[in-house]
Amino acid sequence: MPRGSHLQRDHRLGKNRLPRSPIVCRCNNVDQETIEKAISRGCHDLNQIYDATTAGVGACGGSCRRFIAVMLETYIKNGTFPKEARPQNAKKRR
Ligand code: FES
Repeated sequence: MPRGSHLQRDHRLGKNRLPRSPIVCRCNNVDQETIEKAISRGCHDLNQIYDATTAGVGACGGSCRRFIAVMLETYIKNGTFPKEARPQNAKKRR
């Protein structure tokens, strides 16, 4: 399977599954659901989320961090997550 493919397996959070929700971190192929689970399981600062999921620490230098920050901030304020963590029209930076 090619590196970076959306079908790449997620080995973090004890799961070995194919992503089922939109990819937030394209460098490390981390989907929205994985990040939401990390936050709801107690990762309440960005470094904890990066460590738990590998999102935000990829080759691009962290262009997805702004989306992860919005997810965390929304969850802390409202107890919910944004419907679309990485908007489709968000500028791609690679
Ligand atoms: S897109 Fe997440 S680190 Fe590059």
